Order: sequence, then C-alpha cells, then structure tokens
Amino acid sequence: MQDSSHVVVVGAGTMGSNLARLMITRGLPVTVLDIDPDRLARCRKALETAASHGGAVRFVSEWEQVDDFGAVVESVTENLDLKCRVLSEVETHARDGTLIMTNTSGLSINVLADSLVHPERFVGAHFFNPADVIPAVEVVPGRFTNAETVERVCQWLRRLGKRPAVLKQEVPGFVANRIQHALMRECLALLEQGVVDAEALDDIVRYSIGIRLALNGPLRQRDLNGLDTHLNIARYLYPDLENSTRPSPVLESLVAEGRLGRKSGRGFYEWPQGDAEAYDRQERELLERLLSLMAGTDSDVIPTI
Ligand SMILES: NC(=O)c1ccc[n+]([C@@H]2O[C@H](COP(=O)([O-])OP(=O)(O)OC[C@H]3O[C@@H](n4cnc5c(N)ncnc54)[C@H](O)[C@@H]3O)[C@@H](O)[C@H]2O)c1
Repeated sequence: MQDSSHVVVVGAGTMGSNLARLMITRGLPVTVLDIDPDRLARCRKALETAASHGGAVRFVSEWEQVDDFGAVVESVTENLDLKCRVLSEVETHARDGTLIMTNTSGLSINVLADSLVHPERFVGAHFFNPADVIPAVEVVPGRFTNAETVERVCQWLRRLGKRPAVLKQEVPGFVANRIQHALMRECLALLEQGVVDAEALDDIVRYSIGIRLALNGPLRQRDLNGLDTHLNIARYLYPDLENSTRPSPVLESLVAEGRLGRKSGRGFYEWPQGDAEAYDRQERELLERLLSLMAGTDSDVIPTI
C-alpha cells in the first residue's frame, strides 16, 4: 500500500479494533500491527464483516510488513514505558510529514514526546470506545506539537466524521477522564456508604442528569437551571462530597476478586458471554440511533455561546 491515506493502528485491542473499523468504514486503507498473535486473530475476526464490504485492511506483527503510511494511531496498552518504546519505533518507520497520534487516555503528551526526535508532528488524539461510533476526540497538543499538526489532525478527524476538540494545555486524564473519574468517585462512595444499589444508581443517572448531559453538556445545562441555584447547593454540598485521593475500596476489592466487568463475566453486574455480545451489538445500534437524534440539535434547539 503506497498511499498517503494509509493509516497504521498500533495495538489490536479493544480500541485498536474499533479504530481499524472506523478507517475501514470511512474507506481508508489500514494496517493493524500487534505483537500478540491472539489479539491480532481476534481483531481480524471482529472486523471480518466490515472488511468483507471491500475495506483494505491488513494484520501484521512487525514493522517490516508495513507499507508507506500517512498517519499512525498508537493504541497499545496504557503503560508509559511501553508507549515510549512503541512511539520511538513508529518514528523510525515514518516519513516526513506523517501524523503521529497517541490514543492514550491521559498520559502526558509532553513526556511521551520525549521519546521522539521530531515531536512537532506528534499529538494526542483521544478517541472514545467504540471509536467508530462515538464522535468526540480530544486533541491534545504537547509543548512541541506545531500548529500545522493540530490543524491537519483536526481536518483528518473531521474527514472521519469525528468532532475534534482541542485542549489548550495538557492535564492528566485530559477533560473527559477527569470528569468521568470525578463522577465515578462519588458513585463508588455512594455504593460504599449503602446509600443506593448499583441498579438504582444507574437508573437515577441515566434518566436524570444522563439524558440532559447528552443534550446540553454540563455548562449549558447549568445555565438552564440557574447559576445562583447551583452556587447555593455547592455551598452546602461540597464539604460532604467524596474527595479521597485513593481509589475506592469497593473498586479495589472488585478488581482483586477478578470482577473486571464484561470482559471477565462479572463486575457490578453479571455478564454471561452470549449476553455480553448481544449487549455490544445492541449498544452500538442504540448509540447510533441516539446520535442520529442528536444530529439536528446543535443548530435547531440549543442556543450557541
Ligand atoms: N478501552 C477504552 O475504553 C479506551 C478508551 C480510550 C482510550 N483508550 C486507550 O487506548 C489504548 C489501548 O487501550 P485498549 O483498551 O485497546 O487496550 P487493550 O489491552 O485491549 O489492547 C492493547 C493492545 O496493545 C497490544 N500491544 C502491547 N504491546 C505492543 C507492542 N509493543 N506493539 C504492538 N502492540 C502492542 C496488546 O497486545 C493489545 O492487543 C490505551 O492507551 C488506552 O488508555 C482506551
């Protein structure tokens, strides 16, 4: 594949598989590289149907098998040393002008950039699972990333149907994971204190703040409710909110028991294998339907800033 639109996805795990699916469905030739033959085989199987519709996809285990490429998304295990090694390897195979992106969930782009000779073409592109469906991508420039790279990555993402949002500076966890972890810290504290059980908590969140967040985002939503009211509540509530700097004991013990969620068959809920696959399919379908409902809302319903 001698093609500047050719994309390399490094890592064939949960994210890598769906990143490759995104490229296939958007008509970009893609090579998936993983050192683990089992993960590669699973990825190939998961993408069988998408690839059968004419997508150009290859699965390889070493760089020598990769043709010339215009963009690379590193999506290997979330480990700083490993990512530095992989990025340095990527660079030795990239030509001038190749976009080098990392899909890290929140490791420092500046620290990762230290592994590169040319960090000016390197940027964080944090996709969300499933990467072929969820529109938002956090674009996180490092200290050395140049403006042209940020612009090119945003254009590339828009061509893939994504909604890039550029951060002005990097912070650990970027934006979405900071918010998600703040939310989860409180959820786990409420479970631990026995205030509510998992099902009731999910129900409350889904059918109250959940749907409103999807429509408005948190800040626009607060505008609608009234910032004075928000302030009054914040004054008495903040002292009572969870603020531990250590992960919740509930989370620690679930993981210690091997209750990792869907992938191990049990987390907060039970996930028999057949059900999990059906849930996956259904979730993808429902997300797509929700997104199509939301498609008109930006211009029609919601006032702009
Ligand atoms: N899972 C999510 O919801 C999610 C969401 C956004 C971002 N991310 C980020 O995406 C990245 C990947 O996460 P994941 O959930 O897909 O992990 P995963 O464990 O499912 O997959 C990681 C893959 O990397 C491969 N790998 C390890 N070393 C490698 C090497 N040297 N060369 C090539 N491949 C190698 C592994 O074999 C594995 O297949 C992480 O940085 C993670 O933080 C994950």
